[in-house]
Amino acid sequence: MNKWIRQIHRWLSIAFTLAVIANLVALAQKEQAVWVGLLALFPLILLMLTGLYMFALPYFARSQARRPE
Ligand code: HEM
Repeated sequence: MNKWIRQIHRWLSIAFTLAVIANLVALAQKEQAVWVGLLALFPLILLMLTGLYMFALPYFARSQARRPE
């Protein structure tokens, strides 16, 4: 499960990077397209959620009593 979140975060970072590049291209061409901006915003929101989840993981694990796997 945690591995999944990490993988998702990793691939989302690629999607986000591509969206940012698309954004810069659109900007350079003075293209007025709001959806290109939203294209980057959407992965960023998901990145934030998965990132915050990974950030909270160590604290969450510590607060749990050790239990057998
Ligand atoms: C938006 C808010 C974000 C938050 C809160 C966040 C948070 C985190 C956290 C907590 C980790 C795990 C660090 C660890 O314990 O090893 C992580 C890993 C990572 N983040 Fe983010 N991140 C965010 C956005 C981004 C963005 C914008 C990118 C790149 C475009 C990115 C790329 C990565 C990569 C490549 C890793 C390593 C994943 C792995 O180890 O497989 N993150 N991030």
